[in-house]
Amino acid sequence: MPFPLDVPESELRKRRSEKWQAHPEDVLPLFVAETDVLLAPAIQERLTAAVSDGDTGYFTEVERFAGVAAHFYSRFGWEVPEELVVPVNDVGVGVRESLARVLPAGAGVVYSPPVYMPFGPWIRRAGLSPVSVPLIKYDDDDPHLDLIGIEAALAEGARAVLLCHPHNPTGVLHSTTELAAVAELAKKYDAVVVSDEIWAPLTMPGVEFTSFLAVSETAREVGLAVSSASKAFNLAGLKCAFVINGNPERFKVRRSALSGATGHFGALAGEAALVDSLDWLDQMRAALASNLDLMEKLMAEHLPRARWRRPDSGFVAWLDLRGYPGLGDDPAALFLSEGRVALSSGPAFGTEGKGFARLNFACSEEILTETFERIGRVAAAH
Ligand SMILES: Cc1ncc(COP(=O)(O)O)c(C=O)c1O
Repeated sequence: MPFPLDVPESELRKRRSEKWQAHPEDVLPLFVAETDVLLAPAIQERLTAAVSDGDTGYFTEVERFAGVAAHFYSRFGWEVPEELVVPVNDVGVGVRESLARVLPAGAGVVYSPPVYMPFGPWIRRAGLSPVSVPLIKYDDDDPHLDLIGIEAALAEGARAVLLCHPHNPTGVLHSTTELAAVAELAKKYDAVVVSDEIWAPLTMPGVEFTSFLAVSETAREVGLAVSSASKAFNLAGLKCAFVINGNPERFKVRRSALSGATGHFGALAGEAALVDSLDWLDQMRAALASNLDLMEKLMAEHLPRARWRRPDSGFVAWLDLRGYPGLGDDPAALFLSEGRVALSSGPAFGTEGKGFARLNFACSEEILTETFERIGRVAAAH
């Protein structure tokens, strides 16, 4: 059982976070994007020391954390100046605040479903209007952005593009050519690009991530990126993320207004993660790749009519279950009611997700194997 995905289910069941509380005890939870790991040792030590010191007050070390984030992020294609980093509460806040502060009320924001389900609601909560331009071949080995559709939407008045890069749920990294083309389109139509890059640290071994802001001068003129240590190190509850503002003269996304709600524990843990836990991160990436190898066997054995592509990054797999028409538009619903396994519902990612389900494979080999045995039985019965 590859470390760090080797925590026994009996231990995980003690957790009070969403993954382990949302469903009854007989359900295997492979839905929300939490991971079944213990914290990296440096993070455990930092948080334990803060607890024993009573160091539980407000976050104040804005410059320090910005320096940490800038240094870490410089591995993704360009040297990030630390003054461009704005610590925020979480990625959702970073995306919403960026959009709300740079666009006029009601402006159209292009997004590319099937995509992380809060994107539409986030755009609306920022007082803006979602404009759907679905990914091309989202059900294939080669999903990519619809550049023609994006240009048409911008030409019709949309003022921004919200990217999910790496893309959730397909796990694809948009190519630097595509990203550079989006940047040029944004410049042509005086639009803005916000790139949600929360999954960036979790590329599969040997795969390199390039931030949107790294692809060209133009990308930095038109863009902001938002990321966090929270997916890679399982820190979502601690509330710390960061925006990288490519163009501070143009975009009024400022530390003074936005860093106040950053979690003190999140920043302490984030620093321990991004500075002292990089070997642990490599072990995590290797363990996820090993789970993908196992999944290839389990898919062939238990869901031979399903299709999927190995993600380039992250720990979710996008399962195309349309080869089992009896499972209907929302296979996750039947997997839950009949198989006692919780996956994420495909249609929640957009109408393009009908007949799909998303599976979080950041779990032990035992849980993954048992999951496929259960969902394979449900699929075979329909
Ligand atoms: C693409 C994407 N963005 C943002 C989030 C949530 O991030 P946060 O909890 O920091 O808002 C997730 C969570 O899975 C995600 O997949």
